[in-house]
Order: sequence, then C-alpha cells, then structure tokens
Amino acid sequence: MKSELGSSVRVALLGCGTVGGGVLRLLRDNGSVLFPRIGAPIEVTHVLVQNLDKPRVPECKREWLTTDPDVIFNDEKVDVVLEVMGGEQPAWSYIERALEGGKAAVTANKLLIAKHGPALVARAIAKGTDLAFEASVGGGIPIIRTLREALSSDSVSSVHAILNGTSNYILTRMRDAGLSFSVALKEAQDLGYAEADPTLDVDGHDAAQKLIVMAMLAFAAQVDTTKMVVEGIRSLDEADFAFAERFGFTLKHLGIGHDRGEKVELRVHPALVRKNSVLANVDGVLNGMFVMGRALGPCLLVGRGAGDMPTAVSVVADLVDVARARIEGQPGLMTRGIQLKQRGLLPQDDVVTRYYLRFDVGDHPGVIGTIASALGAEGVSIEQMVQEGRADGEGGAVPVCIITHVSKEGAVRRAIAAIEKQPFLRGRPRLLRIEEV
Ligand code: NAP
Ligand code: HSE
Repeated sequence: MKSELGSSVRVALLGCGTVGGGVLRLLRDNGSVLFPRIGAPIEVTHVLVQNLDKPRVPECKREWLTTDPDVIFNDEKVDVVLEVMGGEQPAWSYIERALEGGKAAVTANKLLIAKHGPALVARAIAKGTDLAFEASVGGGIPIIRTLREALSSDSVSSVHAILNGTSNYILTRMRDAGLSFSVALKEAQDLGYAEADPTLDVDGHDAAQKLIVMAMLAFAAQVDTTKMVVEGIRSLDEADFAFAERFGFTLKHLGIGHDRGEKVELRVHPALVRKNSVLANVDGVLNGMFVMGRALGPCLLVGRGAGDMPTAVSVVADLVDVARARIEGQPGLMTRGIQLKQRGLLPQDDVVTRYYLRFDVGDHPGVIGTIASALGAEGVSIEQMVQEGRADGEGGAVPVCIITHVSKEGAVRRAIAAIEKQPFLRGRPRLLRIEEV
C-alpha cells in the first residue's frame, strides 16, 4: 500500500554548514536525476541554523531558515529530517523527535550513532520509520550500504579501515616528506582537513566512533566499548618510520574489527602494514575499508572520507532510499534489516598479532640479552632485531627494534613491564601492532 504522500517529498535540514551546504548544492545540481529515482520531487521546506545572519551557500533560500526546531517537528508535512549539525545534543533529541513523529531521519553524525545508534535504530523500527547514517562513516564511501545491503547474504569476519583522513594525511607527509608530526598537522589544518578540535582526529577518537558504527553493521554488534584500545598518532617519530621502512612496512592509522565468536575484537591504533598490502597505498586524505566476507573473501573500498560534496553524496543517497521507501508504502524498510545483539569486547590482553617494539636504551653490554630474556620468559618469540649506532656519552641512547612472532598482547605487555624496570631504559618503550591486510 502506498503512503499518503503529497506530490513531493518534504525535507528539513538541521544545520547548514559544510555538509548542509553541500546537500543543498547536490539537490540543486542533481534534482532532475533524483526525481525519477525517487518517483517524486524533493522539496526543501526548512533549514534549522543557530545564526540567521551568517552567510549561506547561494542554494539556501532565506525563507527556509529558522532557529525554531518546533517549526519543523510540529509540521506534519515534513517527511524527512536531515541532521547535519553534529554534536550529541540537541541533535539526539531532534532525531528522537523526528522518529517519534513518524518522520524518517538521515544523519551524518558519527558521535551520535556510535553512542546512541542502537537505541535510535530500535526507536525507528518501533515507529515504523527509517534511520539512515551512511555519511557517519567514510564521508562519500558507501561502506554502510555495502555492509547493510550488499553483504546481507554473507557474514563479515574482519574489517581493517583507514577512517580518519587527517591522520592518514599526516602519516603520508611524515613518511614521504620527512615532516615532523606537528608540521604535518599544521599543513592538514591549513588545508581544512582537520576537525576544529584536531585531538578528535589525531588521538583516534573520530576513527573509534566510525569503527563502532561499522561494527554495528559488520558484526550486528552492540558492544560496550569503554575498554576499547584507542590510540592516536601523536607519538610516532622519524625513527619509527625509518624502522618500519627497513622491515618492509609502512605506518597507517587503522580501525580494526574481528568477529571472534561470542566476542568482538575492536581496536583503533597506528599499525605497521606491509608495503605491498592493499591499505599501504591508500594515502593522503583518502579513507579505505578492507572488509573480509566469509563467502565473498576480500573487498576494498577507497575514496574521500570527508568534504562537503562527498559527504553530501552519502546524505542524499540516504534521502533517496528513505524517500523511495515511503513513496512505495514501505517506511522503515531499510532500518528493519539492522539486527543488533549485545556482544562482549575481546580483552586487549587476548588480542593475538605480531608486534614492533622499540626500546631506547643505554649502550651497555648485556642489554639485548636482558630484553630477549624478558620476552622469552613470557613466551614471546623474536622474529627480527636491529640495534645500530653508538650512544652519545653515558646518558645517551640507542634504539633497539624488535619484530615479534605472533603473540598474545598480555604476554608482550608483561615482558615490557619487566624491561621497564631495567636501569638501562631511556624513555618509554614503543609498542606498535603489525597487521596482515
Ligand atoms: P558545520 O560546518 O560546523 O555546520 C554545522 C551546522 O549546524 C551549522 O549550520 C550550524 O548553524 C548548525 N548548528 C549547530 N548546532 C546547532 C543548534 N544547536 N541549533 C541549530 N543549528 C545548529 O559542521 P559540518 O562539518 O557540516 O558537520 C556536520 C555533521 O556532519 C557532523 O556530525 C560531522 O561529524 C558530520 N560529517 C562532516 C564531514 C565533513 O567533511 N565536514 C564529513 C562526514 C561527516 P550556524 O551555521 O548558524 O552556526
Ligand atoms: N575530520 C575527519 C577526517 C572528517 O579527518 O577524516 C570527518 O569525519
């Protein structure tokens, strides 16, 4: 049965900044192709902002602008709300109000979906309407749609993803141009890649939110992620890049997920990946997701993870889907397919992988033997070890770099804790994980 829609699909935007402006431009540029794809024209009726006097993109009509959310939520003719304002509140309440009123909601808000996605999905299903969030992960890359629809026939065993363009840009510039972290970050900020608060980018939080959203779709998982390892790229230095290169690796910031039966393994951190691996050459501001399906095998998506137009492509694609579902009398169709269950997070000590360890040590006889013994005592086997050069004077340090065989992280950490008690150690040991992608 078809719904009681008028001749057009009526849309309200919550926010008209970078993404909202892109959405309005895309609706104008592609209006003629969207009409036949939906089966009705799209009509923007309201645009909620904070400041009515701010300059807007030319596609934003003055009469659409409002600072009063009630105008939107009390208007029964509004079919779809596009939340492109960001932040937890009031975005959360606004989406709840939209769903409560039977409107469909589309959001680009990774923070909101990472924190409240399962509850909002349940609310949408209960109200027989749709909640869509393609733009919350990977900007214009259709990763959510791929996991939700294209792989609905398969089960995903793992995901490895470059989820933050700013971090990827910084690592690429540190590797290729030998820049320091702070110079590369300044470059990323000048180019407009970094968030207003760049700690979200470089300390891994932005990528963590995106990984949690991916895990909802990839592993049907609602996970308590308070103990999830989230590490950024701030502490990486020239020596790490040089050693990685020497061992045949490059450094990437990854969000990693594995289906581990009852539990789910999720972690976000810089990692060494082989120079010839699929994600090693996803460089600059690009994002990339490497998904392993049990039946499908490997699948790689690469593209622009941010920016007004790429992100607008995802928001408007969601709008097309939810509008079509309503036109066809099937509101809620796309959201009903999202089935979530509570799953535990694999403790980080139980993670099994290979490790790159770096100890800056005083240049004394027996140091390497002590390090090797501490690792051996925990059953951690060394694959390669490099120590080069001589320390400058008594207080100086030389780096000792180790690649381990596959080991449990708990054992590696216990060995490091023992080594940290040694007087020859200068500075904090470095532990980086090695990922086979
Ligand atoms: P933005 O440029 O800062 O724009 C935010 C918009 O929301 C502004 O128009 C602002 O109004 C409005 N707004 C904020 N708080 C409001 C409130 N309390 N009431 C009414 N309006 C409010 O942000 P953005 O970069 O477009 O990002 C929007 C969302 O998309 C975020 O969730 C972000 O994580 C996500 N996203 C962004 C990108 C990207 O490349 N930028 C990529 C993927 C996902 P005023 O203009 O009046 O201040
Ligand atoms: N700041 C993010 C990034 C883009 O650098 O990837 C928005 O998700």
